Amino acid sequence: SKNVSVQLIVNGEPRSLAVDPRTTLLDALREHLQLTGTKKGCDQGQCGACTVMVDGRRINSCLTLAVMHDGESVTTIEGLGEATHLHPMQAAFVKHDGYQCGYCTPGQICSSVAMLREIEDGVPSHVTQDLSRVTFSDTEVRERMSGNICRCAAYANIVAAIRDVAE
Ligand code: FES
Repeated sequence: SKNVSVQLIVNGEPRSLAVDPRTTLLDALREHLQLTGTKKGCDQGQCGACTVMVDGRRINSCLTLAVMHDGESVTTIEGLGEATHLHPMQAAFVKHDGYQCGYCTPGQICSSVAMLREIEDGVPSHVTQDLSRVTFSDTEVRERMSGNICRCAAYANIVAAIRDVAE
C-alpha cells in the first residue's frame, strides 16, 4: 500500500519516515531508522524484548503501528546514557550481571526505567495496592516486570539491579 509520512522524535532527534501504514513501531525503528538495539523476539506482545518508551511510558513496539505515534517522543536503549557514561539502570545491570545472552536486556532496561517512573506516579501493581509503603519487594519488582521474559532466567540478578537503582 501507499507509504505515509510519520514524524517521530527519536531519542531527542526529529526523524521523518515514509512507511507503509502497516509498519509496526518496532520495524520502523529497526528497519527504517537502523536502531537495532530494540529487539524482536516474538513479534506478538508476549516477550517484552521490543519494549521502548513513548512519551515516557513503556510499550511493546511490536504491538503498535508507527503511524499511531506521529508527533510523539520515542526513547530506545540507544537514547539512554551518554557517550561517556551509562544510564544508572544500565550500570546496575552490568554490576549485578542482569543478563546472560543479553537479547532481552534492552527491553528489560527500557521497561524498568519506565516502571520506576510509574511507581513515582502512583501506578499500583497487582500485588501491592498500598502506595504508602516504603519497601519495594522482589515480588513486586517481578510482578511489575512480568511483561519482560528472560529465556536465560537471569531474573534474580535483574531484580537485584532494579532494586539497586530504586533504593
Ligand atoms: Fe514485542 Fe515480543 S517482540 S513483545
